[in-house]
Amino acid sequence: MIQHQNIVQKIIIAVAVLISTIGFAQGKQGRIIEDFNKNWSFRLGDYPGAIQADFDTKDWRTLQLPHDWSIEGAFNKDNPTKQAQAFLPAGKGWYRKTFTVPANWKNKTVSVEFDGVFKNSEVWINGHSLGMRPNGYISFAYDLSKYLNFGKENTIAVKVDNDAQPNSRWYTGSGIYRNVKVTASGKLHIGLWGTFVTTPEITKEKVSVQIEIEVKNDFDTGKEFRLVTSIVDQKHGEVAKIETKEKAAGNAIFKKVQHLSLPNPILWSIENPYLYKVVTKIFDGKTMTDQYETPLGIRYFNFNAEKGFSLNGIPTKILGVCLHHDNGALGAVENIHAVRRKLTLLKDMGANAIRMSHNAPSLEMLQLCDEMGFIVQDEAFDVWKKKKVTNDYHKDWDKWHKQDLEDLIKRDRNHPSVMMWSIGNEIREQFDSTGIVITRELAQIVKSLDTTRPVTSALTENIPEKNFIYQSGALDLLGFNYKHEDYKDFPNRFKGQKIIASESVSALETRGHYDQPSDIIKVWPPKHNAPFDGNKDFTVSAYDQVKSYWGSTHEETWKTIKKLDYMAGLFVWTGFDYLGEPDPYPYPARSSYFGIIDLAGFPKDVYYMYQSEWTTQPVLHIFPHWNWAKDQEVDVWAHYNNADEVELFLNGKSLGKKSKQNDDLHISWRVTFEPGTLKAISRKGGKVVLEKEIHTAGTASKIDLKADKQIIRKDGYDLVYVTVSVIDAAGNLVPDANDLINFEVIGGGKIVGTDNGYQAGLESLKAPSCKVFNGKCIVIVQSNTKGENIRLTASASNGIQRASIAVKVE
Ligand code: GAL
Repeated sequence: MIQHQNIVQKIIIAVAVLISTIGFAQGKQGRIIEDFNKNWSFRLGDYPGAIQADFDTKDWRTLQLPHDWSIEGAFNKDNPTKQAQAFLPAGKGWYRKTFTVPANWKNKTVSVEFDGVFKNSEVWINGHSLGMRPNGYISFAYDLSKYLNFGKENTIAVKVDNDAQPNSRWYTGSGIYRNVKVTASGKLHIGLWGTFVTTPEITKEKVSVQIEIEVKNDFDTGKEFRLVTSIVDQKHGEVAKIETKEKAAGNAIFKKVQHLSLPNPILWSIENPYLYKVVTKIFDGKTMTDQYETPLGIRYFNFNAEKGFSLNGIPTKILGVCLHHDNGALGAVENIHAVRRKLTLLKDMGANAIRMSHNAPSLEMLQLCDEMGFIVQDEAFDVWKKKKVTNDYHKDWDKWHKQDLEDLIKRDRNHPSVMMWSIGNEIREQFDSTGIVITRELAQIVKSLDTTRPVTSALTENIPEKNFIYQSGALDLLGFNYKHEDYKDFPNRFKGQKIIASESVSALETRGHYDQPSDIIKVWPPKHNAPFDGNKDFTVSAYDQVKSYWGSTHEETWKTIKKLDYMAGLFVWTGFDYLGEPDPYPYPARSSYFGIIDLAGFPKDVYYMYQSEWTTQPVLHIFPHWNWAKDQEVDVWAHYNNADEVELFLNGKSLGKKSKQNDDLHISWRVTFEPGTLKAISRKGGKVVLEKEIHTAGTASKIDLKADKQIIRKDGYDLVYVTVSVIDAAGNLVPDANDLINFEVIGGGKIVGTDNGYQAGLESLKAPSCKVFNGKCIVIVQSNTKGENIRLTASASNGIQRASIAVKVE
């Protein structure tokens, strides 16, 4: 029996090896970059023996990275992660993978690159430890070449230790939650993040491009080689080129600066984020030993103490949001399609900037910010030496902060979207003199690697004498969080300083839930640490009327900032609800209320306030829904732009015209409810701009499914987000529907997440079912590699008509 099991196991391993070898390019010159996410084994717990090749993993799960085991667990108030990390489990886990590399890779340098492992990872190859990395957000790579069995089987093992809790103020996830790849190049190659492209001079006629290159010579002997760099545009191919002859000593890093000139550059901007590619090749004789690509966006920007920010000479307000790294129901799992969906929603709202709060973002996030035209504040730390929670990064500070910061800068400094380096968020050291020394040290680390972007920090203390980070004199740009009422004093308090509202608002809202009347602004909690007052359903009104005691309503901050030219812009806390930090609510609340968009990706109403202010596209949005008790007084709000007035009608009868006065950001009518149709018409110069209608919905009768894509790719990664709505017979959303919907997928895909955006739901976000919340939920389906078309069916058990939808997989 045991023998039989062994044979079966060997066959399984052999097939897995075969599968994981296929795809590794064999003969290609230059650099080979391979997806290394597939066919990992995983098990929760601690298995030190798993570093050995003969360790038995037959009870382990096979899975595809990126993977987050926390999101697969149950929300439970006893989990040591507690409220801040969404009451989800953490602990330890091991990953292992057996793979073969081609025999002819013997003459190459082979590395494995992890974009992020939460946290305390240690990696072994064929029993040899490659190193460990405490920071859960930072990218790292290991050279495997010395230890590989070429043409034979290899075993890589990764231990992840997220056991010591609590270790964060927000949900982190656990595991290898970002992408992993293997790269192979000749032994004469560009080092990790070994290029730095800058544009010292930009005119209309030409741009001078400078590229600093680090060539690593892994041979024992010196090497002569040709270093060839080209700039490639999107239409014409190569538009500039330089070739130099070089000589590198054995086992050394050789540094070179090349200069190119590019005529008639197309600038990178928010509206037209034009990207060139810089391609660097190394030739040893006729053989290309490496080929390395660096993105290039040509832009210039400036922060000014009086005028704020400008991009390419054009005054531009930074209209940003803060984002945490989770992808809602996917947990911390990184997926470029999930990120693109988030950024598309924000772009449509008019946002032009993202603050990566409060840690290194994923590569996909930065790639898309480059491609879609966002300004990025890249942030390194939430704590320095002084802790915020018991087991956070302060424990690793002494040993790791220098390397973590250097690696972040080296990795991200070629992204044109990145325009600010933040060395910390609300750091405790701002309150005492240790802040001076550390700020200077960190700023110096940044400047040693990049002088083209300002160093900033998100501060809370805005009295100059009391803020030691400010007193260090080492910040180029001051970031202040909240306290919008103080902005007016900043030019006096901080003479000659450049300033941005690094974090603002923190207002609370639940999508689709409305308390009447709307004109009472509530502050939560009424007092710091005041006990929860017992709102049974854990919902917060979606009018912009509930703010945290440290923050403001959305309207309050934006009204202030928009008038102050010296404020470079703002980052609203937050673009999306995120897992964890459901302040001020206790269990079962488990995700935040601060988002402009809910966790499922449904915009809350305030989204349209920003859209009406931050875009030029015509906007007319009215709310709430139109299902109320007879004769109830209901406040109807409208966000609009591009119009002089809005007229509201109830069942054809005009309730009057209104227009925004002074600095109003919305208009409203108090209406006595009667069922029927509420209609708004916006007009400019007497001409209709837009019309919007809301109808009283009847009883729930059908499920409506809308996919965000008709076709997805059969790559095992692509996602389709299907919006599920419960509607009445006439097609109106039933605004208080909470029916349980079961999902079934047939064909080449599977359900990877379901969510309704309710911040206190305890059902698993991985379940193949979901209760609609205020009428809606989302189901996320991921393709596999079979290429079969997908059919998703949604059914409810209470007589509501089921629905199904097809998605093509190619
Ligand atoms: C800020 C902090 C954020 C988040 C936010 C919630 O003070 O920087 O990380 O905690 O409060 O309002």
